[in-house]
Formats: sequence, C-alpha cells, structure tokens
Amino acid sequence: MEKPQRKRVKEYISTPAIYASPIQAQTMMDLTGKIQKLKKEKKAIILAHNYQRAEIQDIADYIGDSIELSRKAMQEKEAEIIVFCAVDFMAESAAILNPTKKVLLPTLGARCPMAQMLTIDEIRRSKTLHPKAPVILYVNTLAESKAECDVCCTSANAVEVINSLDAQTVLFGPDRNLAEYVAEKTGKTIIPLPEWGFCPTHLLFQPEDVIVLKQQHPQAVVMVHPECSGEMRKVADFVGSTSKMCHYAKDVDAKEFIVGTEEGILHRLRKENPNKKFYTAYEGAVCPNMKLTTLDRLYASLKEEKHLVKVPENVAVKARAALERMIQVN
Ligand code: 13P
Ligand code: SF4
Repeated sequence: MEKPQRKRVKEYISTPAIYASPIQAQTMMDLTGKIQKLKKEKKAIILAHNYQRAEIQDIADYIGDSIELSRKAMQEKEAEIIVFCAVDFMAESAAILNPTKKVLLPTLGARCPMAQMLTIDEIRRSKTLHPKAPVILYVNTLAESKAECDVCCTSANAVEVINSLDAQTVLFGPDRNLAEYVAEKTGKTIIPLPEWGFCPTHLLFQPEDVIVLKQQHPQAVVMVHPECSGEMRKVADFVGSTSKMCHYAKDVDAKEFIVGTEEGILHRLRKENPNKKFYTAYEGAVCPNMKLTTLDRLYASLKEEKHLVKVPENVAVKARAALERMIQVN
C-alpha cells in the first residue's frame, strides 16, 4: 500500500453519496418522542460516538470516544438492549464485551474503512517475520483481527498500552499516523501493519489550512486527533482522542479552538462550552459512515431490533481477551 495523498483520499470518501434526505423539524420531534417511549418500554440505552449527527448526540444517553463507549457498554447493568450509534467496529467491541446483551447497529453499512485495511493474512505474515514482537491493534479493526492480537488500544490509551509491554519492538496497526505518534511518545520501535493504513477523513487535514486559520484567529488553540498526519501534529498545541479534546477544551483557559478531527465533535464542543468558539480545521472533514445513523434509522432499529451485532464465539473469546487486557491497562 503506497502513502495516500490528499486528493486520492478525498475521492475515497466522497463515494458514494450516502446522506439521508434532511428531516423536517416536526418529523424530528415526533421521532425523538417515539424513540424515547420505545427506549423505556424495551429497557434500551443509546450510546453515541462524538462524530454522530447533532440530533443523535442529543437523544443519546451517553456520548464518548471509543474507550469510553467500550467501558460504558461493559459497565451497563440495567439495559437489555444497547443501541450503538457509531460504526461497525465500535458496536462489535460492545457486543464482544457484553455477550449477554442485545447490541444493535442502526445502519448495517456504517463501516470504518480503516478497519478493512488490515487483513488476517497480513497479521499472520508479520508475526512470522517478527516472532518476538507483540501485536497491538487499534480498536478500529474487525473482530477477526482483534482475535489475532495480544492487546488492543484506542487513540486515548495507545501510549500507555505500549509502555505497559515489556518489549522494545512491537507490531502496530492499522493506522500509520497513530503508529508514528506512539513511536514518538514511547521511543519504541513500531512496525506498522499494514505499511500505510489510514483514516480517509483525518488525512484531509493539512497544516496550510491551519496556518490560514491561525492568521484569522491568532489566539486560537489547535487540537488534533492522532490519526492526522505528522505535519498536522507539528502545528498542534494538543493531540488526543475525541473525548480528550472535549475535556481539554473545557479545562484550558483558551477561548478559541481550531479542531482537527471529524466535524461532528463541534456540536458537543459548542454545547459544553457556550462561551468558547470552535472552528474546523477543514470544512469537508466528514466521516460519511458515522453520518449514516439518522433518527429514522435509529427508530427503526429499536422498533424492529435490527441490526443485531453477532460475533462468532470462537472469535469473540480471543478478541475479548485482547480488549479486556487493554481496559486493565487504562
Ligand atoms: P476516538 O476513540 O478518539 O473517538 O476515535 C475513534 C475514531 O474512529 C477516530 O476517527
Ligand atoms: Fe474510521 Fe476515520 Fe470514520 Fe474514524 S473517522 S470511523 S477512523 S473512517
């Protein structure tokens, strides 16, 4: 796999046009009421990732990043159904960690393209080449891949997970940018798996855009996700997972922020910080798969209890061990 360029990345995410048609305000209110009623009747809980549409975030019981949502799914005692408003690998992790609950993904096609970039064959081949190196996989992977690794990580805990291992060289995938970030932070030798795994949305961010925005907003603090390029990390004041950015924006004494991650996070940032200003570092930074979840799809999912996320038990046992090891570290 060659190093991806911005133009190609843009082509990659602009196909196909999968946005649902806009919902009228009245329909939205009706759907919200129906979802809330159904949620009580069915003892369901709605979890939503920070990139979800504003109306999905507003109806969710809990909003978070990958690790927070995994923890929440694991700790959930009351609910019988978890509706997971995000993409495939996040719902799959919740189902693996919570085998006794029904986990629903409102839109079957909501898939993270990065998670498809790493094949089991590639993991096995690399293990043969580097038999002593542990395999650490970002949660943005399919369950079958997680079952092949020693421990999982998210962007919030990747550094801690790698530091917890007694190994100087590790195999790490699929995100190359996160691999380079953790190599910088841990000083360890990180062998990327595959060579150029990437997030098409995060590669759209470019430092030139940030420089222009900084001229317009000289006091603004720059926050970026570690899935962004090394050049973007260099112009950033803060690098962290989506929820870490939300906590940072609340805690730090700045009033303006340039945000280098998917645009859905701006809703939460603005809602939690009404006196602060947030600008996206690139207007087109949308994850189309995250946006597939709409109120009508969420309603249909809860009503018809679709689409049930099921992971074969032989895969789930091994993937669960890797996820639990991660949760024990941090
Ligand atoms: P977070 O865990 O930071 O929310 O990231 C998930 C993701 O898919 C980023 O693109
Ligand atoms: Fe996957 Fe990127 Fe979308 Fe995150 S933003 S779910 S990494 S495609």
